[in-house]
Amino acid sequence: MVGNSVNGAGGTNGSTAGGEVAGRTVTVGGVRVAGVTHEYALHGRPLPVLDDLTLTIGSGEFTAVVGPSGSGKSTLLRLLAGLETPTRGRLFVDGRPIQGPHPSRALVFQDPTLFPWRTVRRNVEVGPQARGKLGEQRDRVGETLELVGLSAFADAYPSQLSGGMAQRAALARALVNEPELLLLDEPLGRLDALTRLAMQRELLNLWLARRFTAILVTHDVDEALRLADRVIVLSDRPARVLADVPVTAPRPRLTDEAELRVQRRHILDLLGAGADAWT
Ligand SMILES: Nc1ncnc2c1ncn2[C@@H]1O[C@H](COP(=O)(O)OP(=O)(O)OP(=O)(O)O)[C@@H](O)[C@H]1O
Ligand SMILES: [Mg+2]
Repeated sequence: MVGNSVNGAGGTNGSTAGGEVAGRTVTVGGVRVAGVTHEYALHGRPLPVLDDLTLTIGSGEFTAVVGPSGSGKSTLLRLLAGLETPTRGRLFVDGRPIQGPHPSRALVFQDPTLFPWRTVRRNVEVGPQARGKLGEQRDRVGETLELVGLSAFADAYPSQLSGGMAQRAALARALVNEPELLLLDEPLGRLDALTRLAMQRELLNLWLARRFTAILVTHDVDEALRLADRVIVLSDRPARVLADVPVTAPRPRLTDEAELRVQRRHILDLLGAGADAWT
């Protein structure tokens, strides 16, 4: 799988050719997953998790990934974040192989994982501080807090925030590094339904404002259809791509629109959670 075509993962396959986001051309953050197979070791035996996955995600695209629990979605994000090395195959961003973590690729988890002893502002400062750039990027910290609507809570501690606010702080901590690729692992999974809807809108607005490439893992098919340009449906472990569903309905989207209802049914059927599962 990993041949010359992979080395050309930049311009030739569209991953860095530049996507249109809100009328602007975006040229960074294109992703290529080339023949990636991944296995963990469990009780001394290989546990196959990803099975020869090949994907191209355009610069500035918003992609959702859905699949059964334990199918390997978080593993895929961890590989893209450079936190794991695939058993076989390769991953590229803008044609460059991923060889480890990098601030241009940020991973946001379901659990906000803020440092409890640091204020919101000090949590957001973690990245710039680690890179020794806090002095020159202090304005950026303030701007990012503004962007996620947390300026008034900059000096609050995580224990003084609601769940939605904590998740916004976690997003700010990732966005302050101006990632080209934002990897979101069920970031809204623990929020109540109304906060979740509000946060979906905010996430969409952040993406429109910052034009990063976004890969969102979610169990919520409506969330995927509301936000993404395309929904990749993974199979049970070891994960293969069952479907790659383009979502072309104009935003903002209400998922009771006819076209989206049909897509939702199709995706739920693929996941074995459609109408047949209830009879
Ligand atoms: N570090 C690890 N060592 C061994 N097995 C692991 C490790 N991390 C994950 N796994 C296994 O890999 C499989 C895929 O895990 P992963 O977390 O990627 O699934 P997921 O699709 O994100 O699931 P969920 O939707 O429940 O979050 C699971 O069977 C899990 O037990
Ligand atoms: Mg997971």
